[in-house]
Amino acid sequence: MGGHMEMMGIVLVSLFLSLQASLLATSEKTMCIISGDCRFADCRGRHLDRVPTEVLPPSLEEVDLSHNALQQIHSSDFSHLHRLRVLQLQYNNISLIEDDAFRFNLLLVDLNIFNNSLTDIPAKALEPLSKLQSLDMSNNFYKSATLAEVFSTFTHLKVLSMGGPFIPSLKKGDFQALRTIFLEKFAIKTASSLLDYEPGCLKVIQTKNMWFDVALDKRPDALPMMLGDLVNKTFVVLRFRNLFEFEYYSDKVDIFHGLADIRTHDLDFHRGKFNENLLRMALMNIQMSLIKVLRLLSIDFARSSTFVDDGNRSSVTELALDVLLLRDITNPDILRFDWRFTWFSKVRHLVIMNVNFNFVPCDAWDEMGMVEVLDVSNNRLQDHSLYNKRCQYSNTMPFLHTFNSSNNQLSSLSDIASLMGTFSQLKVLDLSYNQLSSKASACTWKSNITRMILHHNNFVSSTLSCLPTTVQYLDLSYCNLDQVDMEYFSQATNLKELLLSGNKIKFIPSEWSNPNLMYLALDGNSFGLISMSSFKNMPSLSSLKAGNNPYHCTCDLHTFIQETTTKGKVNITDWPDNYKCYHPEAFLNTMVAKFFPGHIACDIKLVIIISVAATIVVVLALMGLCYVFDIPWYTKATYQILRAKYRAHQEGAGSSQVYAYHAFISYSHWDADWVRDKLLPCLENNKPPYHLCIHERDFMPGKWIIDNIIENIENSRKVIFVLSRHFVNSEWCNYELYFAHQRAIGKTFSDVVLVVKEPIDPDSLPNKYCKLKKMLSTKTYLEWPQEAKQQAFFWAQLKSVLGKPGVTRDRAASARSQLSEADASVVELPLEDRRPVERGAVPPEVFMEANDLSAINAERNNHRTVPAIVA
Ligand SMILES: *[C@@H]1O[C@H](CO)[C@@H](O)[C@H](O)[C@H]1NC(C)=O
Ligand SMILES: *[C@@H]1O[C@H](CO)[C@@H](O)[C@H](O)[C@H]1NC(C)=O
Ligand SMILES: *[C@@H]1O[C@H](CO)[C@@H](O)[C@H](O)[C@H]1NC(C)=O
Ligand SMILES: *[C@@H]1O[C@H](CO)[C@@H](O)[C@H](O)[C@H]1NC(C)=O
Ligand SMILES: *[C@@H]1O[C@H](CO)[C@@H](O)[C@H](O)[C@H]1NC(C)=O
Ligand SMILES: *[C@@H]1O[C@H](CO)[C@@H](O)[C@H](O)[C@H]1NC(C)=O
Ligand SMILES: *[C@@H]1O[C@H](CO)[C@@H](O)[C@H](O)[C@H]1NC(C)=O
Repeated sequence: MGGHMEMMGIVLVSLFLSLQASLLATSEKTMCIISGDCRFADCRGRHLDRVPTEVLPPSLEEVDLSHNALQQIHSSDFSHLHRLRVLQLQYNNISLIEDDAFRFNLLLVDLNIFNNSLTDIPAKALEPLSKLQSLDMSNNFYKSATLAEVFSTFTHLKVLSMGGPFIPSLKKGDFQALRTIFLEKFAIKTASSLLDYEPGCLKVIQTKNMWFDVALDKRPDALPMMLGDLVNKTFVVLRFRNLFEFEYYSDKVDIFHGLADIRTHDLDFHRGKFNENLLRMALMNIQMSLIKVLRLLSIDFARSSTFVDDGNRSSVTELALDVLLLRDITNPDILRFDWRFTWFSKVRHLVIMNVNFNFVPCDAWDEMGMVEVLDVSNNRLQDHSLYNKRCQYSNTMPFLHTFNSSNNQLSSLSDIASLMGTFSQLKVLDLSYNQLSSKASACTWKSNITRMILHHNNFVSSTLSCLPTTVQYLDLSYCNLDQVDMEYFSQATNLKELLLSGNKIKFIPSEWSNPNLMYLALDGNSFGLISMSSFKNMPSLSSLKAGNNPYHCTCDLHTFIQETTTKGKVNITDWPDNYKCYHPEAFLNTMVAKFFPGHIACDIKLVIIISVAATIVVVLALMGLCYVFDIPWYTKATYQILRAKYRAHQEGAGSSQVYAYHAFISYSHWDADWVRDKLLPCLENNKPPYHLCIHERDFMPGKWIIDNIIENIENSRKVIFVLSRHFVNSEWCNYELYFAHQRAIGKTFSDVVLVVKEPIDPDSLPNKYCKLKKMLSTKTYLEWPQEAKQQAFFWAQLKSVLGKPGVTRDRAASARSQLSEADASVVELPLEDRRPVERGAVPPEVFMEANDLSAINAERNNHRTVPAIVA
């Protein structure tokens, strides 16, 4: 009972698993890729075992179902695809195509059922396909090659390939249906060895290309019969594949007899076994034919033990071919199967490719006297096998213009040069994919080589000196070059195209000059800088390829790209995809096309304009500042102070501390009357009198006014400014105020007495006298009262501020003069920054008395410059 349950479980699980598997399989199977326009369905290689009709939209024109596991084609499979033109069913296992499978696919032009399992040609199913142009139905298990009469209706048929590995014989009537059809290509495959051929079978075939995949191991005599059926026919290509598949032909009968009567341009032997005798037999007949191109491809060649070398008579000497191609032949003996190379003597284009030959005897060169193009690429030639110093090379191969030795093992350029020098007409030389390297020895190129292909070698720059300078085209791509050899390029003046891709060139010399160079490839190198000057000595350059270099994204590069892409003189062919910035780091991997350093940074004219404009702006700004802050005025005044101080110093500093006056009076000439009539009499008639300095009287004539001001202020204990509405209008007034303000000449604010003769608005003062303005607004000054009885109090206040008049130094030097231009005086009495230490800077006053000291002390205590305050 338990066993039963277990069995049930297993069955269920496996059922489930297989269900899942089949679901998966179905979803995978239905995976056809349908093109966007629903005209093409790609169902190739999806393990389909039936046609997925449901996923094929009716609009399809092409369906590829190849490489699947289809077994049968049913009438409903393609019945809805009325527009179907191409149907690919090759590489399936189709053994049955229903008779009406294609009855609705009347537009079908291309049907491929190659390599399936059909045992009969599906003639009935093909019947409706009158538009067929290409029908490949070979490699099926047909037992006979007989074509039904329906084939005669395929009048559009161009390509027909038929047969299979089980067709034992070709019968006379097999291709009768094709008698009226002109084909491009007809291919027939039979069993590995044909057993029977009925003459006349191929006679009806009319085609340009005739391909036989017919092995004759057991019936070599069928070949003359087949050739006999082709006599007087014209072909482009006649091709035999696997003519002898397993056995070498050993008979003496000439089975190629009749070849000469077939008009074919090309004859190909592809695969199959050829011995010396058979090849010679073929060549003897070809000599007499119209064949111009002979190809021996993948031939299995062997010497014949029965070959009799009877001197000249066994040689093939009249093989006049345009092209003789020997490719993929493992046995290099084929080259001299008759021991004399004579079969090359009338060949014009000789290709010996991948034939493993590594030795060229001296006589071979002489035999190839007519060869114009010699291609020995893909062999194993070394220098000594190609160039034998013991051979006599004199005027060998006089017509040779192209020599291709690509993909060999050559290493010495000078040996090659020596050999090539003997080929006087040589123009094109291909030595790519060799191991040519730097063995720098002198090279002499006698021939005028114009095209030299050297890519994929291992040069250093100095190797270039070994190259011919006559070249017009030079390919040095992938040669490991790390710099450009200027010396060589300056000589190679014919150069029109130069390829230097994939090297390691680190910079482009600006003196690089090639006047005729039109195309230059420099992609995949190691340089980061190119600019307008890089190619300036290449006036003919019209096409440049320079991508995949580690570019430094700079203005030079930007300018270069801009100029070349817009002007269009030089076409940068790989722009812009392969151009990326490598430096600076911030731009790493940015596309150069997206790198915009900005016009500002790169345009020289713009840079100049901008800097000029900026300078102008700065100058204007400075001028503005000067205007606003009166900088020139300050500068001038400071200069004057310094000058005065210097002069004072010159004149002897020691005497400076004795004051000549008790006060210097600064006033504008509007106020001169008041000063003369009121101030002077009051103070000078005091007992003892105050000595006062006014410019009209005391300035020294002939001395510069500024010096006078400075000197007299210096020589006065106090400075009295008579303030009125006119005071700011005078330059001298400003000077005096400024000197007092600066305290630059030893005056402190306590030495400044401000007398306001008539009320003024502090706001009318210039901004630079901020302290004065403040003083006026806080009323720290002496005000001249208009009422006479108050004036006595004013004089008392003034005298108290001036202190008791004491001794003054005799001022012999101070002359009294009238200076008409001095006309204004103002006073400023700053309060804020009076510090005791500044008092120390006050020069000792020789006539200072006790009162003064106490007054000074009082001032120090209450921090007042002017003791008298009138509210
Ligand atoms: C092809 O189909 C046959 C049956 O028609 C089958 O026996 C054979 O195994 C199939 N071959 C392949 C390779 O699937
Ligand atoms: C079809 O192709 C397969 C593999 O490509 C091959 O094994 C098979 O023999 C071919 N069938 C015929 C009839 O040639
Ligand atoms: C081939 O053509 C030549 C001349 O054109 C003729 O003499 C000869 O009989 C023809 N041979 C055959 C087999 O038709
Ligand atoms: C072979 O040809 C050469 C020149 O082509 C001639 O000198 C020589 O006598 C010939 N030998 C025979 C056996 O015909
Ligand atoms: C030389 O042979 C190589 C390889 O066969 C081929 O790619 C190349 O184009 C040939 N060169 C010339 C100049 O024909
Ligand atoms: C090579 O060219 C030069 C100058 O054009 C000419 O004098 C010389 O004869 C040429 N050489 C050959 C072998 O053609
Ligand atoms: C530049 O070269 C490319 C590629 O060779 C070509 O497609 C394009 O038309 C050329 N442009 C000009 C302006 O010559």
